[in-house]
Order: sequence, then C-alpha cells, then structure tokens
Amino acid sequence: MALQRIDKILSSQNIASRSDIKEMIRKKRISADGKTVLKPDEKFDPEITEIKVDGEIISFKKYIYIMMNKPSGILSATYDKYDKTVLDILPKEFQRNGLFPAGRLDKDTEGFVLITDDGELAHKMLSPKNHVYKLYKAVVDKSLSNEDVTAFENGISLGEDKFLPASMKILDEHTALVEICEGKFHQVKKMFNAVGANVIYLKRLRIGGVFLDESLALGECRELNKNEISDILSKSHGI
Ligand code: URA
Repeated sequence: MALQRIDKILSSQNIASRSDIKEMIRKKRISADGKTVLKPDEKFDPEITEIKVDGEIISFKKYIYIMMNKPSGILSATYDKYDKTVLDILPKEFQRNGLFPAGRLDKDTEGFVLITDDGELAHKMLSPKNHVYKLYKAVVDKSLSNEDVTAFENGISLGEDKFLPASMKILDEHTALVEICEGKFHQVKKMFNAVGANVIYLKRLRIGGVFLDESLALGECRELNKNEISDILSKSHGI
C-alpha cells in the first residue's frame, strides 16, 4: 500500500480525530516499528508497519464491512435533512470516514444492509451482471398462487419497468420468499403490484452467500468475518 501520513492512518481507523492524534504524537504516545513518532506528517505503509498507541498494536483495516439489521423508518443513505439514516444509528465503534450503505432498502423495509467503505466491492455486489442474488421475505395482501410464481419466473413487466426473471417460493397464503439479482427502485414491491398484490412487510434476508445474522436485533450490527466478505459476492442462489 502507498505511504500515508501517520495522522491520516490513525484517523482512518477511528482512533481519534486528526487534532487529538497531533496531541498524542506530541506526548510521544505513538510508535511505528518500535520508534516513537515525532511528527504527524511522518509517512508509513499501514499494511506492513507495526503501529502502536500507548504500547497497544493497532490492527489496520483497509476497508470495513458491517452487516446491519435495518429497522423500518431508517433511510439507507449517508445523510438526510429530515430522517435518520443507517449511518446515524451506526454504533460509535464502527464509525469512520467514507462509509456508505451498499445499495438501498426502502425506508419501510427491514433487514440486511451492508455498510462499507469499499466502493469496488459495493459496485460488484450491486451490478446485475455479476449475479449476486438478494433474498427477501415479503408479506402481501392477497392470496398467492402458482401463477404468481410463474409470472415472476417469466420476468415481470410493469409499465416502463422490465425485471429479469426472479424466483418466488410461497411460504403461506400471504408470505413468500423472493430472490432477485437486480436492485431497481421498489423492485420487489413493483413485481408484486404487477400480479395484483401490495407488499405490507418486506425484509432482506440474504446478500450473495451471506444470511442476515438472526441474533442481530433491529438496528444492531456487526462486522463481517473473512469468509463472509468473500461470500457476499457469491453467485450461489436458489430457494
Ligand atoms: N424491493 C423493494 O421494493 N424495496 C426494497 O427495499 C428492496 C427491494
């Protein structure tokens, strides 16, 4: 990795603000490969340098990947003038510059939102040509039938909107699982509208090969582990 200023490295890891880091350097609390850092503009490669704060090693992460169980009422955005966003409710220990939600769930949709600062992974996850499937559970206001399953499989068209073939599995009269690899605006709701149903509850359960951790209560989050970070781009699907 390229050389970076020590104050930039530490602030990117949410250690402290740039001004607090300057103060920590002045007080000789920071070392790099065993040598005390004397100035904030000293440069290091964060991936190969052992950086310590008060004698404790900082484990450098180039990017972070956070699974959030988004509650209804929260926007999948970085900032909004009126409503709370997923970044507003992100616990302090996960906060750092450059984070954004990879893809959007509607305000009233619950479930798995990936929050990251890795733009390349987000792009791959969202691009339909990469076939990263997303699984949703929907509750609707009409009795679902096998004709609806077939309509989804054939690819729904609604006015201007054309959606790729999608899988649907009926769980009970009003509840179904739906799997899609596009992320068009209100896609699942519009697909159900096309078969005469309104979605009254929607939750995203899986992205790629990673299921929402059911131990996360609404609004809670945790970091993805190494396997999950590679499984998020998995093309595996099927319900
Ligand atoms: N489809 C929708 O209609 N809404 C969502 O939030 C996600 C997929």
